[in-house]
Amino acid sequence: MVRQVYINGEFQNENEAKISVFDRGLLFSDSLYEVTTVINGKLIDFHSHMKRLDRSMTELKFSELLDHDNILAFHKKLIELNNLNEGMIYLQVTRGNADRSFDIPKEKIKPTVFAFTQEKKIIDSESSKKGIKVMTLDDLRWKRCDIKTTQLLYASLAKTEASKKGFDDAWMIRQGFITEGSSNNTWIIRGKIIITRHADNLILSGITREAIFKCAKDLGYEVVNKNFTLQDAQSANEAFVTSATAFVMPVVKINSSQIGDGKPGKFTIALREEYIKKALERAI
Ligand code: PDD
Repeated sequence: MVRQVYINGEFQNENEAKISVFDRGLLFSDSLYEVTTVINGKLIDFHSHMKRLDRSMTELKFSELLDHDNILAFHKKLIELNNLNEGMIYLQVTRGNADRSFDIPKEKIKPTVFAFTQEKKIIDSESSKKGIKVMTLDDLRWKRCDIKTTQLLYASLAKTEASKKGFDDAWMIRQGFITEGSSNNTWIIRGKIIITRHADNLILSGITREAIFKCAKDLGYEVVNKNFTLQDAQSANEAFVTSATAFVMPVVKINSSQIGDGKPGKFTIALREEYIKKALERAI
């Protein structure tokens, strides 16, 4: 099926939509993105994604923020046009077109805004039943990972390296501590305590991560925000990752170490179920 995509106020066939060769998103990765999950044709945590987009645009000093109602309207239209039941909407906002120069243009330029749908089995994903295996790599990304920019090359190389070695994803390590996965936040469980790295400039503060704090509390677990090492993770009872498109994904192996009994952990499964239940209630 040829998808309809959104680009700068219009809906076009996916093979007709075009952006300029002068787009600063293309030339400098001067651009931001958000991925919002769609389940049963509804958006999960749309407004939280918009708040984070505003923050990213503010951090990069984009000249003005976008109208959330308009973004919601074209997200809904994309779902309808493409008959999307389960998957995601990818939204990218670039600073816009300008002659190539390292200086960001002083005058106001019109941002490029585009979005498309992608189908994905999320609730009944095979990986969530089996759990995933991760390998660790040095975190060589820049030190503003809190901004959701499209500078994703290192994350993409890391994930590819992991796949080549028979793993499902890479967890990155900086200064002796796990930062995050290639496109997800990382968590471990020891006893009834759930540990995730504190949100600083070295990780993206996930929308799913935020929702998990509440789910964990509702289930009576304690969540601690703190750094953890590879050794902490390998000796944990359970481990998992979170992201908009993975929800809560059990991790059953880290490098050569099996986590727990090598199957998705029971707290992780309970958190995943709770997360899905609450997310569906919030969906719009
Ligand atoms: N990635 N950390 C990184 C580096 C990410 O790229 C993501 C999301 C997350 C989790 O954030 P959230 O819970 O808001 O999805 C953490 C998206 C899904 C992606 O790039 O496809």
